[in-house]
Amino acid sequence: MFQTATKEPKVLIAFYSRSGVTEALADAVAEGARADGAEVRLRRARELVPAEVMAKAPGWREAAEAMNAKYEAPTEADAEWADAIVFGTPTRFGSVSSELKAYIDGLGGLWAQGRLNGKAGSVFGSTSTPHGGNESTLISMYNPMAHLGLVIVPLGYADPAMYKAGTPYGASAVSFNQAKPPTDDDREVARFQGRRVAFVARALKAARITDTKQGQADQVGASQS
Ligand SMILES: Cc1cc2nc3c(=O)[nH]c(=O)nc-3n(C[C@H](O)[C@H](O)[C@H](O)COP(=O)(O)O)c2cc1C
Repeated sequence: MFQTATKEPKVLIAFYSRSGVTEALADAVAEGARADGAEVRLRRARELVPAEVMAKAPGWREAAEAMNAKYEAPTEADAEWADAIVFGTPTRFGSVSSELKAYIDGLGGLWAQGRLNGKAGSVFGSTSTPHGGNESTLISMYNPMAHLGLVIVPLGYADPAMYKAGTPYGASAVSFNQAKPPTDDDREVARFQGRRVAFVARALKAARITDTKQGQADQVGASQS
């Protein structure tokens, strides 16, 4: 367990999941963040395709409806609220799902105002097959996170769980065509990710980074409160 120091961090977990595999990882990340004292918002990005396209994939509509009943859609306000943003996505042809990417692209207004600079950022994901693109997907997400000014939090091999599962880039799971939920080891890595993100977010919040627009805004906010 990490040493904790200051005010509780707020962690936004913004994910897309069609059949629940990435959702299960999101739950474990949330569990880890809460274990480190964080306040957590879990949000699911919505479908972009029309109902007739969803109808061609058995179970898609039902799974989406069930998850949408549990989770609100992520908003700009959620991103502003958060001290850390953790993205989660199933692989789509070796990269991020368009549903999650649409949410990220919608953060352009906050990007233009420098409102996300200096927050912690991290990512997790899942593929169908062992070499189907987990690492390429996670690393591809580092690109938008860098543009948004997030302080990227990888996992390294900083916890024993990392030697059993996961990648240093973020928690991952291999679902074998959605037949297999994340293993206990996958979930342990995801919980570690939640704890680590909360720890880094707390430290950044305490430090009030001063060399970014967000940090300057934080300084102003802090001196006024
Ligand atoms: C359009 C599409 C593209 C996909 N591309 C890949 C891929 O490149 N590699 C892979 O291993 N799985 C791929 N998958 C499978 C999912 O990423 C995988 O089953 C994932 O675990 C599903 O997670 P979810 O239950 O959270 O939706 C693809 C699925 C779809 C629908």
